Amino acid sequence: LKLDLTYTNDFLSEEEITNAESVVKALHDDLVHKRTPGSDYLGWLDLASRTLQEGITDILEAAKKIRDHADALVVVGIGGSYLGARAAYEWVKPEYYNQLSKAERGGPEIYFLGNHISADAVSDLLTVLKGKQVYVNVISKSGTTTEPAIGFRLIREWLIKEYGEQETKGRIVATTDASKGALRKLATEEGYKTYVIPDDVGGRYSVLTPVGLLPLAVIGVDIEKLLQGAADAEKAFGSASLADNAAYRYAVLRNALYRKGYVTEIFAHFEPALHYFAEWWKQLFGESEGKNEKGVFPASVGYTTDLHSMGQFVQEGYRNLFETFVHVENGIHNVQVPSAKNMDDGLEYLAGKELGWINDKARLATQSAHAEGGVPNVLIQVADRSEYTLGTLFYFFERACAMSGLLMGVNPFNQPGVENYKTKMFQLLGKPGYQK
Ligand code: PA5
Repeated sequence: LKLDLTYTNDFLSEEEITNAESVVKALHDDLVHKRTPGSDYLGWLDLASRTLQEGITDILEAAKKIRDHADALVVVGIGGSYLGARAAYEWVKPEYYNQLSKAERGGPEIYFLGNHISADAVSDLLTVLKGKQVYVNVISKSGTTTEPAIGFRLIREWLIKEYGEQETKGRIVATTDASKGALRKLATEEGYKTYVIPDDVGGRYSVLTPVGLLPLAVIGVDIEKLLQGAADAEKAFGSASLADNAAYRYAVLRNALYRKGYVTEIFAHFEPALHYFAEWWKQLFGESEGKNEKGVFPASVGYTTDLHSMGQFVQEGYRNLFETFVHVENGIHNVQVPSAKNMDDGLEYLAGKELGWINDKARLATQSAHAEGGVPNVLIQVADRSEYTLGTLFYFFERACAMSGLLMGVNPFNQPGVENYKTKMFQLLGKPGYQK
């Protein structure tokens, strides 16, 4: 992973970054010695290496059983119990994975439920599932989060209608708290296979727990390589020194820009496969930093698509933006622009050129134009769309986010604000105990 600050240099001096060296060292010490606010939630720090040491045989075996029998896996969850798996699925797998034949996929189709309360979306999913062998992984630490609880009720009822009560029990895997909560209780009563969401890992840091690992293993993502990438990143981004730790440099940089009025950060990518990675990233930073009336607002764009919509605003709109480009150096496929001399589209000069090369020129041009327009931008280059690289990037951002929140003076590991709307919604829904 390379961090390139070429297009922040006009906005921020190297000194403004290195000035933070001693603060970063102190916060790093607090982090590794678990003295930070929210220090009960630091299990993610060495989660990947610990998991590899403990072994993943049980997850791989459970995943294989589902793989061997399922046409479709439905993953029920929201927020931290959803976005990591979806990000990794879309990063690693082909764009139209579900539309490929079973032989081409090598595993079941995958669908996500419980991340909304839309009757239309639920109905559309149930229509697609008709006639398929369906397995479900329900993921909820509490078991009482409204969206996944509704989604799970619906899909469980559907399974029971299709396969009967007894068989349904063998088709559900529950990923939840080790001992407490509604889902743990139900899973025990019904005899579902279960996996544990560790107490010391918050939702948005949980992708490398069974929350992400099980569904990813079912669809054939190499979770060992994913974990290895993150485990190696524990070392690569484990140094207290700003000179050696790109994650901390990035954390310092976004804080320095924030203090200069750049209060919105746009995650920008040039690969549709990164769309849900950006969604994961937004939750990570939004929930970690957005509190006490502080925080960089995390947004995202998919270029070049969004250059034809949001590009205007980024180039010339209200100036409080900076961008973080994540660039994948090597795509999976090579595609060339065909020659077609009779087409008057002015494109013949590109005949024979690789799309990857053109895409990269678009990225370079965008970075340069946006910097000229007053938008500092950071470039994070990664090698490819492999599991290993993704594991590295997950960890890079987790580590950066922890340091960034600490530098901002907030607890990066709690999310008290997400309760407020729930209280009002429960009042409106007439939930017992919530009446005014
Ligand atoms: O980060 C968080 O804590 C949230 O996004 C939760 O993960 C999300 O609300 C899901 O919670 P639960 O797993 O309890 O259903």
